[in-house]
Amino acid sequence: MRTPLLCPTDLLNLDLSSRTYIVTGGNSGIGLVTVEQLAKQGAHVVLACRRVEEGQQKAKELLSQKLRGTIEVSKLDLADLNSVRAFAKHFLENHTSLHGLVNNAGVMNTTFQRTKDGFEMQFGTNHLGHYLLTELLLPLIKKSAPSRIVCVSSCFHDKAMGYEGRIDFEDLNFEKRKYNGWVAYGQSKLANLLHAKQLARRLTGTGVTTASVHPGWVRTNLIHHSMPRWVQDKVLRPFFKLGGMIEPWEGAQSTLYALLSPEAADHNGAFFSQTGIYRNPKANRGGWPLKSPNPQANDETIAEKLDEVSRKLVGLGS
Ligand SMILES: NC(=O)c1ccc[n+]([C@@H]2O[C@H](COP(=O)([O-])OP(=O)(O)OC[C@H]3O[C@@H](n4cnc5c(N)ncnc54)[C@H](OP(=O)(O)O)[C@@H]3O)[C@@H](O)[C@H]2O)c1
Repeated sequence: MRTPLLCPTDLLNLDLSSRTYIVTGGNSGIGLVTVEQLAKQGAHVVLACRRVEEGQQKAKELLSQKLRGTIEVSKLDLADLNSVRAFAKHFLENHTSLHGLVNNAGVMNTTFQRTKDGFEMQFGTNHLGHYLLTELLLPLIKKSAPSRIVCVSSCFHDKAMGYEGRIDFEDLNFEKRKYNGWVAYGQSKLANLLHAKQLARRLTGTGVTTASVHPGWVRTNLIHHSMPRWVQDKVLRPFFKLGGMIEPWEGAQSTLYALLSPEAADHNGAFFSQTGIYRNPKANRGGWPLKSPNPQANDETIAEKLDEVSRKLVGLGS
């Protein structure tokens, strides 16, 4: 079992008061820990979630610890582009700065489903919803520079349960090919990594830096489309732990490092990985940053093309 990478203590004691962050999927797992840590350091954090009551309950529990910062809960359903537009409009009307956007929310290995706008659920939620969100918030993120955008990807962008991560531009939404939940997850997580890389290129010189991360194999709710949560948490936990599964606190370390460390800004657009499982075992111990072993992840033309296609799909024209 490999030791997880942890942020230096200094970083987790930085004063973030007067800084504003958005964390998508902030009501659960890695996102929830990220919200808690940023608020502990004094930030104002918008916990963006699709289940507002659940988010409010979680925010109440966190705030009862008397954190230095503040938490605001706001409705965001990434599987519905109207909800993304409404969230962004509400945020922009009520805030004057945004220092960090954490595109964290995600679903994994779902059955074949479509988002409200007709996209395959994992590509639509994990990538396209975040793509539109980022574009709508970008003017304020630029105005707030130095600022950061972190896209939570996965080592499954490289290889997900034996399937190579690949963007299939001929059939992004599984209209022609047979659906496979792991292939769709791998495609969406490769899109997250490429999104961060292409943003870094587009935003050069603006003071906005970007990163993608693999948080590790983390004990969260993400598993629930593949097995009941109690099987992971009770029956298989000791075996999974031996295999490298870590706790949400450890899973949030790569995000926090990519979001807060000055060194991460020197690697604009890079991929920061907790321990993982890659096609190249040398990559398994992770790295902040780590060069992905997937050739598509390092191909600028694919990143550019994905940017163009995504822009059109979310209705922002060319
Ligand atoms: N756990 C791992 O081993 C692992 C490994 C690699 C990468 N990741 C990535 O880490 C990120 C966080 O996942 P997690 O492990 O913390 O899992 P999690 O506990 O299931 O959290 C996922 C979050 O995404 C939210 N979400 C799902 N669909 C959404 C939608 N349509 N609109 C808005 N929010 C939505 C969930 O909301 P609900 O609570 O309403 O479902 C939840 O808050 C994901 O991007 C995942 O791909 C996780």
